[in-house]
Amino acid sequence: MAARIIDGKAFAADVRGSVAQHVMKLKKEHDLTPGLAVVLVGEDAASEVYVRNKAKQTLEVGMNSYEHKLPADTTEETLLALIDRLNTDPAVHGILVQLPLPRHLDANLVITAIHPAKDVDGFHISNVGLLASGQKALVPCTPFGCLMLLRNEIGDLRGKTATVIGRSNIVGKPMAQLLLGADCSVTVVHRWSSNIAELVRASDIVVAAVGQPGLIQADWVKPGAVVIDVGINRVPAPDKGEYATKLVGDVQFDEVQKIAGAITPVPGGVGPMTIACLLANTVTACCRANGLPEPTGLTV
Ligand code: GUN
Repeated sequence: MAARIIDGKAFAADVRGSVAQHVMKLKKEHDLTPGLAVVLVGEDAASEVYVRNKAKQTLEVGMNSYEHKLPADTTEETLLALIDRLNTDPAVHGILVQLPLPRHLDANLVITAIHPAKDVDGFHISNVGLLASGQKALVPCTPFGCLMLLRNEIGDLRGKTATVIGRSNIVGKPMAQLLLGADCSVTVVHRWSSNIAELVRASDIVVAAVGQPGLIQADWVKPGAVVIDVGINRVPAPDKGEYATKLVGDVQFDEVQKIAGAITPVPGGVGPMTIACLLANTVTACCRANGLPEPTGLTV
């Protein structure tokens, strides 16, 4: 039987709907409007698109959006001074500095300068530590979105075997922590792992986040497994024209969908969940900052 295709676009729209409802409630009952500040340094074309989408969706759910576009030659001092201002601005509940930063800026230093309570990316070492020790954290948006999709697909994850392919700080590592927190038995594999296929084949849940088009093939996948594809790779599409390209994931979708129980497509799977979770984190940060109950269904 063919796998269920997980509709991340529809699920993300539901999440944004819940965020919008909570924002309305905060306005009505507490005269509070959550605010998200996004900082973009330089003119990376892909980053400009992401930042535009974030601002648009922030406004659509009724929150305030503050965009700060700085030139590529911005000094560390100037950027840190802006973060300092945003840290103390009561109208700003979430701060996101778009990555990658120009090479002369140290991303770790910049992320560490963000107040952990406003770190809606969940990248600050304080949030990393809180997540790893099972405490209340702000959680990185992409793995958070994957967890939401898995919960929606499977329900209780307790006792499931899960393999995360990739160990980045943004996806692989926090994904493994979230799955551990959901009582899965978790394996993390990476470029030096010698028996990836065997480990994946033993897994009820597979999360692929390596950025290698089509790495995960059908005979690696346990029949009925739920496969979450975080990869977004642009590859040539000669059938569409000489210079045409298309987006593909890390999973060989056409083949794996014949084996898996459920699978996310690329595009339209995990991608739309990331901004939805960013908005959810901003509402959560706003509630925590004001000592209000956290929005139900929008936290881990
Ligand atoms: N660049 C690509 N993805 C992300 C993300 O999730 N957060 C930030 N800050 N930058 C990114």
